[in-house]
Amino acid sequence: MARKDKVVLAYSGGLDTSCCLAWLQEERGLDVITFTADLGGEFKPGEIQRKARASGALKCIIRDLKDEFIRDFCFPALKAQAVYESGYTLGTALGRPLIAKHLVDVARREGAQFVSHGCTGKGNDQVRIEVGVSTLGRGLQVIAPLREWDLKTREEEREYLKERGLPFSSGRKTPYSIDRNLWGGSIECGALENPWVEPPEEVYGLTKSPAGAPQKPQVIRIGFRKGVPVSINGRALSPVHLVKRLNALAGMHGVGRSDLVEDRLVGIKSREIYEAPAATTLLIAHRGLENLVLTREVIHYKEALSNQYAQMVYGGLWFTPLKRALDAFFDETQKDVTGEVKVKLFKGSCQVVGRRSAQSRYRWEWATYSAGDRFDRTQAAGFIKLWGLPYERAK
Ligand code: ARG
Repeated sequence: MARKDKVVLAYSGGLDTSCCLAWLQEERGLDVITFTADLGGEFKPGEIQRKARASGALKCIIRDLKDEFIRDFCFPALKAQAVYESGYTLGTALGRPLIAKHLVDVARREGAQFVSHGCTGKGNDQVRIEVGVSTLGRGLQVIAPLREWDLKTREEEREYLKERGLPFSSGRKTPYSIDRNLWGGSIECGALENPWVEPPEEVYGLTKSPAGAPQKPQVIRIGFRKGVPVSINGRALSPVHLVKRLNALAGMHGVGRSDLVEDRLVGIKSREIYEAPAATTLLIAHRGLENLVLTREVIHYKEALSNQYAQMVYGGLWFTPLKRALDAFFDETQKDVTGEVKVKLFKGSCQVVGRRSAQSRYRWEWATYSAGDRFDRTQAAGFIKLWGLPYERAK
């Protein structure tokens, strides 16, 4: 019998990718190798393996990518202060190029000609994965089953699997679509599709309700080295541990929720709920330290580039020349971003309440209004005169 062609499917074990796994075998006659990336979301390797096998997968590959995800994707985005449309810290968007990179790698090792994913035809993730694959994997072809077939509703998908006697989603029938990793959770669908409706408390999984959060504020110290967080309360932690710890701490105080109507790449406005306790806290703390150590020009110039960077991450342009050039710029700006920041977590808010650094540009003797003042105020009049000179009305 002729050997079948192989496809590597990015597989979560959820409803969409379970249907894709059956469809690729049935409609395309392919051997399917599933690939699952552990980015720190809800994750049961045993269950995923069992499901994949029971659904006819030739092989089931799972990789723990948490460390690579935080070091090489999330921390660069932190240095860049990347936030999309002021409300999205980009957890889902940062995970996709990493998944694309490993899809390509698995396909090469396994001798597969195709890769596949369960993204829908109207979202951003299809773009991110496919642009990633086409930039990194010369000659690999992508199959996107959900763009080709007629199954629309989640009910129809369940029927499709039931008819074939295949395992379908793990019991809990949630009306929401949830994507979660260490950098945050994204929640959409169901009642959330009405942008006027307040999200019910049940959609959140990483954050406590601010109303039910502890009555007492908690101050924590976060240490940074060259723009990268390295410690909490003086204790050195690995990137993954630090982010996990902060997710627990800030999540308990209800920090990092946002409710956003955002602009998707395909032209749609969509409503998404985000919760990103660690990412939000780190972005706030990091910015607090930058304000202490960077020059005015770098701070202002960087702000504009942060926005551009966030748009590129959102748009799946991770493995591109401008993105790399921007990383080089941000790295240069981070040389002095070493020090400690105190943040206060309290009922959904996260505030910088202190910062210190050996690289501080804060000069008390210039800033003070007390006896030790060394600022030469006699120079101010001349400065003001020349600063406003271009705009002076002729007498
Ligand atoms: N809107 C976010 C993005 O484009 C998240 C997409 C996935 N959301 C989800 N709930 N599954 O990055």
